[in-house]
Amino acid sequence: MTTPIFLFSLLSAIFTVGQSIVKPGSILTPTTNSSWPSPSGLYAFGFYKQGNGFAVGVFLAGIPQKTVVWTANRDNPPVSAEATLNFTSDGRLVLQSAQGAETSVANFSSASSASMLDTGNFVVYNSTNNTIWESFQNPTDTLLPTQRLFYDDVLDSSVSESNQSTGRFRAIMQQDGYLALYPLGTPYLIEYGYWSEGIKAPQFNATLNLDDDGHLFLANASGIVTISGAGNSTKGSVYRLRMDDDGFLRLYSYNLVQNGIWSIIWSPAIDKCEPKGLCGLNAFCEDDGKDFHCTCLPGFAFIDESKRSLGCERNFTTESCKGGINTMKEVPNTMWENVTYSLPLLLPTKEECRNACLQDCNCEAAFFKDGACSKQRLPLRFGRRKQTDSNIALIKVDTSTPSTAKIVPKERKKEVRVDILIISISLVGFAFIVLAISGIAIYRSRLCGKPKELEKITDGFKEELGRGSFDIFYKGTIGNDQKIVVVKRLEKLCFECGELGKLVKDKGVEMRQLEKMIKVTLWCILEKPSFRPLMKRVVLMLEGTEEIPIPPNPSSALS
Ligand SMILES: *[C@@H]1O[C@H](CO)[C@@H](O)[C@H](O)[C@H]1NC(C)=O
Ligand SMILES: *[C@@H]1O[C@H](CO)[C@@H](O)[C@H](O)[C@H]1NC(C)=O
Ligand SMILES: *[C@@H]1O[C@H](CO)[C@@H](O)[C@H](O)[C@H]1NC(C)=O
Ligand SMILES: *[C@@H]1O[C@H](CO)[C@@H](O)[C@H](O)[C@H]1NC(C)=O
Ligand SMILES: *[C@@H]1O[C@H](CO)[C@@H](O)[C@H](O)[C@H]1NC(C)=O
Ligand SMILES: *[C@@H]1O[C@H](CO)[C@@H](O)[C@H](O)[C@H]1NC(C)=O
Ligand SMILES: *[C@@H]1O[C@H](CO)[C@@H](O)[C@H](O)[C@H]1NC(C)=O
Ligand SMILES: *[C@@H]1O[C@H](CO)[C@@H](O)[C@H](O)[C@H]1NC(C)=O
Ligand SMILES: *[C@@H]1O[C@H](CO)[C@@H](O)[C@H](O)[C@H]1NC(C)=O
Ligand SMILES: *[C@@H]1O[C@H](CO)[C@@H](O)[C@H](O)[C@H]1NC(C)=O
Ligand SMILES: *[C@@H]1O[C@H](CO)[C@@H](O)[C@H](O)[C@H]1NC(C)=O
Repeated sequence: MTTPIFLFSLLSAIFTVGQSIVKPGSILTPTTNSSWPSPSGLYAFGFYKQGNGFAVGVFLAGIPQKTVVWTANRDNPPVSAEATLNFTSDGRLVLQSAQGAETSVANFSSASSASMLDTGNFVVYNSTNNTIWESFQNPTDTLLPTQRLFYDDVLDSSVSESNQSTGRFRAIMQQDGYLALYPLGTPYLIEYGYWSEGIKAPQFNATLNLDDDGHLFLANASGIVTISGAGNSTKGSVYRLRMDDDGFLRLYSYNLVQNGIWSIIWSPAIDKCEPKGLCGLNAFCEDDGKDFHCTCLPGFAFIDESKRSLGCERNFTTESCKGGINTMKEVPNTMWENVTYSLPLLLPTKEECRNACLQDCNCEAAFFKDGACSKQRLPLRFGRRKQTDSNIALIKVDTSTPSTAKIVPKERKKEVRVDILIISISLVGFAFIVLAISGIAIYRSRLCGKPKELEKITDGFKEELGRGSFDIFYKGTIGNDQKIVVVKRLEKLCFECGELGKLVKDKGVEMRQLEKMIKVTLWCILEKPSFRPLMKRVVLMLEGTEEIPIPPNPSSALS
């Protein structure tokens, strides 16, 4: 057991005067001599395990659950077991990788000694024993007893319990005397903060303090405001205040004598979904009273199902809003960051709000509340469901995508036969070539006024590709009796289409399917580009999800 040994060293430390001094020339490695302990052994400075490698920092070494309280270069990747931490003879503390690359662990130079204190503070001194650097003045996510936050000092949460890289939430001791919580990266404005506690500090001198007995308070020159009172058992307990990865600032205690677990003795009295952005982008947070849950917007899926807080992204590729088949899905009782890009529209019903967004290709979502319709762009952030909030979020979804097509009740989704798709795509491609050639030909003939040119250019294709054959195609698609003609024509037409003919014969493509293909082809070769359907619609037509209208006669469209 670690505890009796630890208690022994803790007791002996009480009678031990002085510090454990580290001098230049000392070296730490992740596997042997991996840390410099404080006199009692409660805290240590050095390597600790992080992911597949190691990080450097300060941790509670005297308890079974090693707890990290400070990390050097927290956003750097972990180092390998071959790295060394070198307190160089010229008084720098550098991390050397196996390849020899050096990284400074803290911003100081010409140090004469360093010391891991029993308070958890790692302190560096110059030759006259003045403190030139201390971990207490460069906090990461944790505040320890006797450590203070001065104005503008922050605690930034970690990614997770096991990854001390910078996370998503911040606690800041503001100049106005308020300790406030924000999502990291937002301005320090009331609309972004989600909790605060204050003491007036007109001269910018309020501090956040934690005492050895767990008393957490704000202090200014003339008084204090208690956030959490002193604990009952002052002896044998350690405390720490941490900005947690879920956006909660929490005060923890650990009883060394009972060797228990870290217990929470204070946290802000707010709803679990209050920390803004807890669920990431394009998602909203719901609190069931026990825990929170993240839900994606309609048409979105979690970026990583195992890390839902990363938020959601569209699970299909978006195409142009024009020509797509869009609808608005409703997400009731949710509130979001409201960054409308136009003046809110005063519309009496949500249907009107819905239509206003559908008709605006810049609009990706809209909020409808109390007769105000505010158009939004994606991503939506800080989403939160609250039954008392009457806002309705309307989300534009592209129902023409395969994922949502099955929701459309009017059309039954059919399996797309691969062979048909191949044929269709070659047909469409071929049609474009034909169009290009005839386009050039027509252009040239018009330009030069030499109708002979058309014949020359289209030479070998002339018979099949002239206007006459378009007509045959056309008739073929509407007149059942001419289908065979069309098939024959097709076989002859396509220079690589000995293959097409085979496919058609061997696999017995239904005439209806072929007709569909031809209709689509006719749509695709229309001279006026604006008449041609988008590729997205072409796929839908071929799938059978969308009805294919009778194409206009290409001959008439040409002239
Ligand atoms: C660990 O450090 C101590 C004191 O600096 C030294 O005596 C000992 O040899 C070192 N052990 C290893 C394995 O390097
Ligand atoms: C910690 O999280 C950061 C940010 O998400 C990530 O880049 C990094 O790889 C993680 N580190 C480990 C050791 O998992
Ligand atoms: C530590 O740093 C000093 C000075 O930069 C260098 O001479 C020495 O080789 C380093 N030691 C290790 C083990 O890298
Ligand atoms: C390091 O310290 C120097 C002097 O104290 C300061 O000018 C510099 O900005 C610091 N650098 C970093 C990265 O904190
Ligand atoms: C610095 O502190 C150490 C240990 O506490 C002591 O031995 C040394 O004499 C001090 N040096 C100065 C210049 O005060
Ligand atoms: C040590 O640091 C103190 C405070 O920064 C400074 O006043 C003193 O001159 C420094 N001593 C040396 C030898 O640099
Ligand atoms: C300290 O805070 C209290 C309570 O907010 C306030 O009444 C007092 O004026 C403040 N004192 C100073 C010196 O700012
Ligand atoms: C507040 O801090 C400033 C500088 O940090 C100092 O000049 C001033 O005297 C302090 N005021 C009080 C009341 O302590
Ligand atoms: C202190 O003891 C009281 C009564 O035993 C208990 O209700 C309270 O939660 C304790 N406070 C702490 C911080 O442990
Ligand atoms: C969004 O902001 C606009 C303009 O500031 C306002 O009219 C509208 O009521 C807000 N909507 C919601 C849901 O807060
Ligand atoms: C997209 O997400 C919806 C709902 O989560 C799901 O039903 C659908 O299968 C997904 N589509 C794709 C292409 O992953």
